[in-house]
Amino acid sequence: MRTSLSAIDQIPDGGATEVEAEVQGVPESLILVREGMQVAAFLNICPHAGRRLDWAPGRFLIDKGRLVCAAHGATFERMSGECVAGPCRGQSLRAVAVEVRDGQIWLAEPHAR
Ligand code: FES
Repeated sequence: MRTSLSAIDQIPDGGATEVEAEVQGVPESLILVREGMQVAAFLNICPHAGRRLDWAPGRFLIDKGRLVCAAHGATFERMSGECVAGPCRGQSLRAVAVEVRDGQIWLAEPHAR
């Protein structure tokens, strides 16, 4: 069964939000980021020390279009998840495959990739 995560218009363009969903049977907190009609998703786990990136549930720091971990300031390219500054520079958030269809964001089915 496909899992709907959110309506795309629930995410401000250029912003991020958090949703809870089961990914391959495991409950996870996910970061959803939006750029126009494109959406990327990542596990809400910072590669630096494993903390969540949001400073309050669903509230993320965005600086110059980049996602900033609230714990120690690691800075990530929003759509690729690559850390470009801070304590885990060169590492990346773990991407989760999603697709946008009919204004909804869906978890991509593993066999569809
Ligand atoms: S846990 Fe994110 S920068 Fe340290």
